[in-house]
Amino acid sequence: MYDFDTVIDRHGTASVKWDMAPKSIKEKGYTPLTIADMEFKVAPEILKGIGETLKHGIFGYTYADESYFNAVAGFMKRRRGYDVERDWLIVTNGVVSALGLCVRAFTSPGDGVIIQPPVYPPFMSAIASNGRNIIENPLILSDGRYSIDFDDLESKCAREDVKMILLCSPHNPVGRVWSYDELKTLGEICKHHDVLVISDEIHGELILPGFKHTTFATIPGMADNCVVCTAMSKTFNLAGMCCSNIFISNPDIREKLANVMRIEGAGAMPALSRSAAIAAMTEGDAWLDELLSYIEGNFAYLYEFIEKRLPMIRCIRAEGTYLAWLDLRALSLSDEALERLMIDKGGLALDEGYIFGTGGSGFERLNLAVPRSILVDSLERFEIAVLSVV
Ligand SMILES: Cc1ncc(COP(=O)(O)O)c(C=O)c1O
Repeated sequence: MYDFDTVIDRHGTASVKWDMAPKSIKEKGYTPLTIADMEFKVAPEILKGIGETLKHGIFGYTYADESYFNAVAGFMKRRRGYDVERDWLIVTNGVVSALGLCVRAFTSPGDGVIIQPPVYPPFMSAIASNGRNIIENPLILSDGRYSIDFDDLESKCAREDVKMILLCSPHNPVGRVWSYDELKTLGEICKHHDVLVISDEIHGELILPGFKHTTFATIPGMADNCVVCTAMSKTFNLAGMCCSNIFISNPDIREKLANVMRIEGAGAMPALSRSAAIAAMTEGDAWLDELLSYIEGNFAYLYEFIEKRLPMIRCIRAEGTYLAWLDLRALSLSDEALERLMIDKGGLALDEGYIFGTGGSGFERLNLAVPRSILVDSLERFEIAVLSVV
């Protein structure tokens, strides 16, 4: 049994989530429910792995060696049924960094890149900050569940200027774990129109019971038209280790990415990240399984709380990730008023829906990777805030 209940104070650790939270939240000592890292200590197996490197005492330049690759390959095979080869692996200092590299490697200024909002904000900045155009294929919300608008996708892919899609799979923030059939349809449309699929699967191991994640490249016929982005950062709470595993089986596509990385001098493998990731991928399965049960319990608590006490609010049922997506449009508040309500009345730092682009306004994203006691306390304050305006 691992410990997910202990509350850990992260103030003063230069945590983006904690130390950059609104002043009033920090002063009250509340745990922010924002940025996607977890309030759980990493698995003891990982601490041991890092400890061995610490004891060695030298932190020189390291690379993704055979031990690292074997750990990644074993993990991908066990958890996803994805067989990877040594040549396919490119290590980057994060998936966001990989998205920017892909934009520069596979498109030219002025080209269009598709996203499916509401979506993780760096998808938009990776495109716009590189001088490419954001082409939106907004998700459809119907009966509390999101789906892909394939007709719209087809028309966007048919455009001359559109060269690539950033696919969020599983999807942050809406929590969908795209089905095999959905991914196959998307892949066929993209392939038909020569649109490259960058599949961000950073949440690919965080799958709730009853759902199955399909690694995009495992769909027959898709491997040669995609880049699969994975990492241990979400799965094992190692985001600050800045290390991610990108797989590209098509050698021409791989060479283009490798070339941009050479130009930019990107792709260093931090020594402690290597140790942490090897330990996580070889010895972390039991911790990960328990984590998923704990997260499932937190979702169940949230759903029951909202259903019983705040029925005017709709929870989108998450199929994966540890991020809850709540529809508060019934409160009829502006983006600013909703944000102020959460901070001032609720003492809650949440990720505001509008930052996720089209379709996000009126929603809030809550990070549920917290000890249950923090969730219980946060929801009590959430109720006070909501009831103050209805
Ligand atoms: C879909 C998605 N991609 C990428 C990231 C961040 O990746 P990294 O920390 O490896 O840059 C996140 C973090 O929340 C995410 O949700």
